[in-house]
Amino acid sequence: MLARPLQDLRISLTDRCNFRCVYCMPEEFFNKDYEFLSRGALLNFEEITRIARIFVAHGVRKIRLTGGEPLLRKHIENLIEMLAQLKTPDGRGLDLALTTNGSLLAKKARSLKDAGLQRVTVSLDSLDDDTFRRMNGVDFPVAQVLRGLEVAHATGFGPIKLNMVVKRGMNDQEIVPMARHFKGTPFILRFIEYMDVGASNDWKMDEVVPSSEVVRRIAAHMPLEAIEPNHAGETAERWRYTDGGGEIGVISSVTQSFCRDCTRARLSTEGVLYTCLFAASGHDLRALLRGGNTDQEIAAATSHLWRTRTDRYSELRSASTPGTASAARKIEMSYIGG
Ligand code: GTP
Ligand code: 5AD
Ligand code: SF4
Ligand code: SF4
Repeated sequence: MLARPLQDLRISLTDRCNFRCVYCMPEEFFNKDYEFLSRGALLNFEEITRIARIFVAHGVRKIRLTGGEPLLRKHIENLIEMLAQLKTPDGRGLDLALTTNGSLLAKKARSLKDAGLQRVTVSLDSLDDDTFRRMNGVDFPVAQVLRGLEVAHATGFGPIKLNMVVKRGMNDQEIVPMARHFKGTPFILRFIEYMDVGASNDWKMDEVVPSSEVVRRIAAHMPLEAIEPNHAGETAERWRYTDGGGEIGVISSVTQSFCRDCTRARLSTEGVLYTCLFAASGHDLRALLRGGNTDQEIAAATSHLWRTRTDRYSELRSASTPGTASAARKIEMSYIGG
């Protein structure tokens, strides 16, 4: 039995995105025929805040807003203001973070900060404009995301983490240039193993670049040493440059799963709670909210779910022969959030 505390709630605010990243929302699948959620299905801000309040009363310390692309959700600042007021049982504020593709960050950084957002994590898969445009699937220029990073930093967000999903043959030639570019800057670059989330990205194991290889390739140019995690259950393994040039992270959910310490629950845009990123089904909290249940009843239902959860998808994947870890159709990452 894995007795893992529930500390981290990730809330998806929309299943839509203005990018079509090859590893997340490939254009062949997410095209004009794809049915996104309708407006009425979405939890409204009061409903989201109510669920967040219940979870915070039961041990959640960190809330991450995701998508799709969360900055596409209208008036997101209003929700951030509401969430920023929540307090943990010992009277502390939450760790309130947001994951974004950075396309709207230059425009929105100031209003997000003013609303009470503390941290942003930005996806950035390449510095090379051609590679970046190909990977995001919509020909979006990297310069605009870099501008977003500058503005976010100037606005006072920090430390800003950058997520690079590495796909062999697509952007692995960018590993060392990315490391070099962000070495000695306030940005913390994290290299993420390309995962078999969802059912649309046609994942193949030989397109995964193991984190051990990422570290080896960088260290050949800029020596690195391992450092201690910030806290138990951290997704990223931390490394620092021996010359004092700061740190990087590697997230190895394929080659070294971290299910044992997984403290994360995920709430979809329409209010379905998933206890694993790789789940095929979840639990409908919207029905409980809209069905007149009290906070106590909702808390009792969710704590039962969490106590009886057995999720350890990544561990099972590592232990199984390829393709057998999950027979059921998995949810998409754009639906449940990074
Ligand atoms: P902080 O510690 O708050 O900075 O965030 P984090 O380390 O949780 O990082 P972030 O939310 O940026 O997640 C980075 C990436 O790690 C995600 O986009 C996923 O690719 C991967 N990831 C995060 N959580 C999980 C998880 O529970 N399971 C798996 N398999 N992968 C995860
Ligand atoms: N593998 C790993 N990470 C993924 N993300 C989306 N799809 C995948 C995948 N197939 C994560 C990335 C991105 C965030 C929004 O979601 O970290 O930065
Ligand atoms: Fe959009 Fe992020 Fe998915 Fe890319 S990874 S398609 S930016 S949600
Ligand atoms: Fe948690 Fe599931 Fe990811 Fe394992 S695969 S770390 S249980 S979300």
